[in-house]
Amino acid sequence: MRRNRRWLCRRDLRLYPCGVRPVFRSRSGGHEPKKAEGEAADINHGVSFAKPCFVRAGGYADLTECGLIIIAAGANQKPGETRIELLSRNRVILSSILDQLTAVNRDAVLLIVSNPVDVLTCMAQQLSGLPAGHVLGSGTVLDTARLKYLVGQRLGVDSRNVHAFIIGEHGDSELAVWSSANISGVDLDDYCRITGITDSTNLLHHIYENVRDAAYSIIESKGATYYGIGMAVRRIAEAIVRDEHSVLPVTSLIQGHYGVDGICLGLPSIVGRNGVEAVLDIPLSPAELAQLQDSASKMKALIEQLH
Ligand SMILES: NC(=O)c1ccc[n+]([C@@H]2O[C@H](COP(=O)([O-])OP(=O)(O)OC[C@H]3O[C@@H](n4cnc5c(N)ncnc54)[C@H](O)[C@@H]3O)[C@@H](O)[C@H]2O)c1
Repeated sequence: MRRNRRWLCRRDLRLYPCGVRPVFRSRSGGHEPKKAEGEAADINHGVSFAKPCFVRAGGYADLTECGLIIIAAGANQKPGETRIELLSRNRVILSSILDQLTAVNRDAVLLIVSNPVDVLTCMAQQLSGLPAGHVLGSGTVLDTARLKYLVGQRLGVDSRNVHAFIIGEHGDSELAVWSSANISGVDLDDYCRITGITDSTNLLHHIYENVRDAAYSIIESKGATYYGIGMAVRRIAEAIVRDEHSVLPVTSLIQGHYGVDGICLGLPSIVGRNGVEAVLDIPLSPAELAQLQDSASKMKALIEQLH
C-alpha cells in the first residue's frame, strides 16, 4: 500500500510520519504560505532536541501519499461560546478542505480535531464518502486524560495507573464511566476508602465537573487550549502510524452500540493503521447508559437541525 511505503521510508518514522506539512489558510480561505513557512521554521529549530524529522510548508498536492491527515483548521472557540455555536463557522471550512483533500487522496485516514469534533467527524465522513473507520475524531481522548490527571492528583497516585474513561460527546453532555473506574485493578470507591476519603461521591462529581468545564476555564484564562490537545493528538497519531491497536476513546460513526445508531460519538475503540478497527462495548451502569443515550440524542437532534 502507498500509505505503508511512505511510513516505512523514513528513519524517524516511529513518531513522525512522512514529515510534517502544515497547510495554513487565512480565515477568508486564502493560502497563508508565509505563516506555514514561519511555523515550519519554528518547529525545525527544535528538532535537534527531539528526533530527526522533516517539517516544511506545503499545499494540498503534498497530501497525495499521506497515510494520516489531521484536520485542526478552523475557527477557535471564543470565551463563553459553546462548541455547538462554533459549528456553523467550522462546517464551511471543513467542507472547503475536504473538497480539495479528497481530490488528491482518498486512501488516507482522516483525524478531525476541529470543534465541535463529533459533529464535524460525522460531516467529514458523509462529505468525503470514505469508509466509516477511516474518519475519526479526537473524541474524548483529551477529556479522559484530564480525568486521569485530576483523579491522580486528588488520590495521590500516578495518573497512568488510573483506568477510567470519559465517553459521549466531547462537550457538555459527556459522561465519566465511574462504574468500571479503577486504580490498577482496585475499585475506585475501595481506593478512596483505603486512602481515608469518606465522601467519594462528591469528590468524583467535582472532578467530573472540572473535566467537563476544563476547556471553558482555560479559554477564559488564556484564549485557547494548545498543549493537552497537542499531546492527545500525538498519541492518537502514534497509535495509527504504528498500527498499535490501542484502546482510545476516539469519535467514530456508532452503528448499533448501546442502542445508538448513525451518529458520531467518543467511545473506547481499537485504533490502528486503518483508523477505528472496532468500537468496544465497555460495561456501563444503567444510569451511565441513560446518560450516554441522552448525549447521543442531543447530537442527533443537532445533526437533524442542520439538514
Ligand atoms: N478536539 C479537541 O479536543 C480540541 C481542543 C482544542 C482545540 N480544538 C479545535 O481545534 C481548532 C483549531 O484550534 P486552534 O487553537 O489551533 O485555532 P487557531 O485559530 O490558532 O488555528 C486555526 C488555523 O486554521 C486555519 N484555517 C482556517 N480556515 C482554513 C481553511 N479553510 N483551510 C486551511 N486552514 C484554515 C487558520 O489559518 C489557523 O491557522 C478549533 O476548532 C478548536 O476549537 C479542538
